[in-house]
Amino acid sequence: MKGEKFKVKDVKTKILSNREIAPGYFKMALDAPYIAKNARPGQFVQVRCSDGFDPFLRRPFSIHRVKGEGSRVKEVEILYEIIGKGTEILSRKKAGETIDILGPLGNGFTLPPSTLHPPPSTLIVAGGIGVAPLVFLAEKLAEIRITVLLGAKTKKLILCEKEFKKLGAKVHITTDDGTRGCKGFVTDLFKKMLCAMPALSGVEGRYAPCAVYACGPRVMLECIADMCVKKDVECEVSLEEKMACGIGACLGCAVRVKGERSRAEDSYIYKLACKDGPVFKANKIIGRQV
Ligand code: FES
Repeated sequence: MKGEKFKVKDVKTKILSNREIAPGYFKMALDAPYIAKNARPGQFVQVRCSDGFDPFLRRPFSIHRVKGEGSRVKEVEILYEIIGKGTEILSRKKAGETIDILGPLGNGFTLPPSTLHPPPSTLIVAGGIGVAPLVFLAEKLAEIRITVLLGAKTKKLILCEKEFKKLGAKVHITTDDGTRGCKGFVTDLFKKMLCAMPALSGVEGRYAPCAVYACGPRVMLECIADMCVKKDVECEVSLEEKMACGIGACLGCAVRVKGERSRAEDSYIYKLACKDGPVFKANKIIGRQV
């Protein structure tokens, strides 16, 4: 829940596995019971990629899944793409090695109240590695009808399709090059799906019968947020911002969002992606060009 006091811990964890699941994309499982038990979908961990000072800063990774039964939940998974030195070092780590992680961090997704009948139909939209936090979310929404839109550059880079299908979700694929699913961007398909969604309930304080959760490149999220706001659909997006400290101390992850009370279209305030986010309501998102 937003506003809840976070218990963040810096823990030395054992790597249980670290394997390449698609060219350049890895999944790492960590033995981290405390973080696994306390994590919520949309939160992240800060990982120290090497034992030395190069790279100096930790790297942020969404919590991809937590695994284990009931009180024996103990595994945390992260899904990552090799995009620089830190992730390259991480990709060479082997099972049995230890690694330092800090978490759980940030504010996660808001789950619909379980008392809501009928439960809202849900659209999950993922662009590329943006799928990372959304499998954990889908697992928490298991009782709800979920439709997933997965966007990737090409068919070899489609991630987590099996995991979503296992949860009973209906999965639609888009690829930029048309090698699988619809050719084009996931936002094009999203636009069509959104138009087909049921109308809102109109009851104040109640969830609309549909909700959207998204993570991916910023331009994709801005586009989705804009469409949802215009259609008055509940939507939350998880921003993939660069982070240094991950705990609200360095101010390096400030993002411009719409102010709380301001009605002026072009007014904004700054929030920290690591502390106030990384999940934000769609109606707070503004384009970088504004
Ligand atoms: Fe340091 Fe957010 S990463 S304030």
